[in-house]
Order: sequence, then structure tokens, then C-alpha cells
Amino acid sequence: MPSLRLEKVSKHFGGLKAVDDVTMVVPPGEITGLIGPNGAGKSTVVNMISGVLALTHGDILLGDQSIATDRADIVARKGVGRTFQNIRLLAEATVLENVMLGFHRRETAGVPASLLGLPAAIREDRKFRDKAHKLLARFRLDEFANMEAGNLAYGHQRRVEMARAIASEPDIVLLDEPVAGMNDVESEELATIFRELAASGMGLLLIEHNVGFVTRLCRNVYVLDSGRMIASGDPQTVIRDPKVVAAYIGTSVQ
Ligand SMILES: Nc1ncnc2c1ncn2[C@@H]1O[C@H](COP(=O)(O)OP(=O)(O)O)[C@@H](O)[C@H]1O
Ligand SMILES: [Mg+2]
Repeated sequence: MPSLRLEKVSKHFGGLKAVDDVTMVVPPGEITGLIGPNGAGKSTVVNMISGVLALTHGDILLGDQSIATDRADIVARKGVGRTFQNIRLLAEATVLENVMLGFHRRETAGVPASLLGLPAAIREDRKFRDKAHKLLARFRLDEFANMEAGNLAYGHQRRVEMARAIASEPDIVLLDEPVAGMNDVESEELATIFRELAASGMGLLLIEHNVGFVTRLCRNVYVLDSGRMIASGDPQTVIRDPKVVAAYIGTSVQ
């Protein structure tokens, strides 16, 4: 499984250096943290990796291949999945359908075949349905399979988004504040899933406001502040770094 690497990546919005000269690695098989106060540039990093925003400077590599100028659909096809800080589901489609959309990357039957309802496509559809149900079970969403996604509680919608993001079995998955708005029980359930995904070889980039959650889960943590990478390394060392403490003054580090 490939590593994801950012090399001296910057994103400027006019005069604002939202991300400035950032270098980081997301290795396979582990959870890497990205923390920092609001406005630090975390979501901008995810948007650049996933091809939603163009880079101003620098390079992004998946394995030894640059993906810096690839469109979002190409980045996804190459094996980088993501969730959004602001949930993006098809509100009127069912939970099951939303998750099935995530299989798109690995779909083998062409669209016309599906439309004609040819046996191969039907079989494949059934296979995908079974797989989608398994994913729903993993995220404890089975009972909501046929509900419209828009009618779910916020925490459940986040889980649907995650199930969809990993449906295509990406090598790397970028999780932008996945446990925001969840209680401790729900967060710990997700922590278990994240650990399992890492154990299966996936590389996870976990963006989170809850520093305690990140320090428990990550082997390596990066800290952004005003677009600059101010610290990185072992979580227990990083959260005691005076630069990191200073960046979080007025917010809560626990
Ligand atoms: N599309 C955009 N246009 C202009 N400024 C932006 C845009 N997206 C983000 N920013 C600015 O870039 C900075 C970093 O934002 P963001 O990456 O969302 O931070 P974080 O996710 O760490 O809270 C903020 O000052 C934000 O206002
Ligand atoms: Mg953000």
C-alpha cells in the first residue's frame, strides 16, 4: 500500500497563506493526526489532497506518483477517499443507496448494462447490496438502511459518510472531523473502526478538534497553526510542545 506525501505544499487565497510550505506523510497501516486551531488550514490540506482545490506551490505524491494536478474524481479512483467537514450525502436517497454510491470506483459493469438490467449487472448489484449491508452493520447503521439519509440524526449521517468513503476500499482515507458532534460512546465506537481499518493496511489521516481523541489513536501527529506546520511527531511529546500549547491558548487542550 502506498504512502501519501505532501512536499512543501502551499495554498494562498489572495494574500492569505491558508497553507504555507507544509510537508507531511500519511503512511499505510496507521492513523496519522492533523490538529490545529480553527482556521489553521486543516480542511484546506484535505481539499488539496483530494483534488478539490488546486495547489499554489508544492507537490502531493501517492506512492511515487504525483497526484497534485489530478481532478477530484481521478484522485478518488487512484485510491484516496475522504469525508467532508460539512456532511455531503444525497438527502433524498436511502442510507443504503448513499453507501452504494461509494462503490463507484470499483464498479465493473458499465452503466448501460445496469440500465438494461442484464443478469451480470443484477448479480453485481446484489453483490454490492450485500457488501453495503455489511458496511452498514460495521457502522451500526443496519436498521437505517432504507431510511432517507436526510432524515437521520447528525451523528448517523457522519457514519454514513464514512461508510461511503471506505466502500471503495481506498488505500488512504482523509477524515475531516469525523467525530464532531458525537458523544463519547459513539466516538469510541468509531475509534475501534479506525483502528481496524489501519490494521487492514489503510492509511488514515484524522483531522480532529478533540486533541485527546487524536493522541489516543495516532502514532504520529502534525500540528498546523495559521497555515504553518509548527510541530510533528509522537502525540504525547507534541501536545507538550510550548509552540503547540501557545497555539491552543484560549481553546481547550485535554
Ligand atoms: N475557498 C476559500 N477562499 C478563501 N479563504 C479560504 C477558503 N477556504 C478556506 N479559507 C481560509 O483559509 C484558512 C484556513 O481554513 P480551513 O482550511 O478551513 O481551516 P481549518 O479546517 O483548520 O479550520 C481560513 O482563514 C479560511 O477562512
Ligand atoms: Mg476545517
